[in-house]
Amino acid sequence: MTDTDLKYETVAKTSDLKPGEMMYVEVDDEPVCLINLNGEFHALNDVCTHQDASLSDGEIDGDEIECPLHGGAFDIRTGQPTSFPVVTPIEVYKVRVVGDDIQVALTR
Ligand code: FES
Repeated sequence: MTDTDLKYETVAKTSDLKPGEMMYVEVDDEPVCLINLNGEFHALNDVCTHQDASLSDGEIDGDEIECPLHGGAFDIRTGQPTSFPVVTPIEVYKVRVVGDDIQVALTR
């Protein structure tokens, strides 16, 4: 699948999210955590792979997002687990900026 085959959906404006901030959005009813990491936008599934917690209620720590429930963490860029009790990677999604729209595509 090429990038042009992906179905991008506008979820926010670039001005909605400053560096170091994140927000909860939905794409096709899928819960997504949208993050501005040093001016780069990233999107991960919002539901922690450990239990049922919303990552957008957690905290950004360097390049990682920390879950609010048990403190497990994921690499924001790759979705790989970085801190126990998280052991399963979380889905990361493609993000692009068109004009001042932030767009996310669910299919990787
Ligand atoms: S629910 Fe996220 S670390 Fe437990």
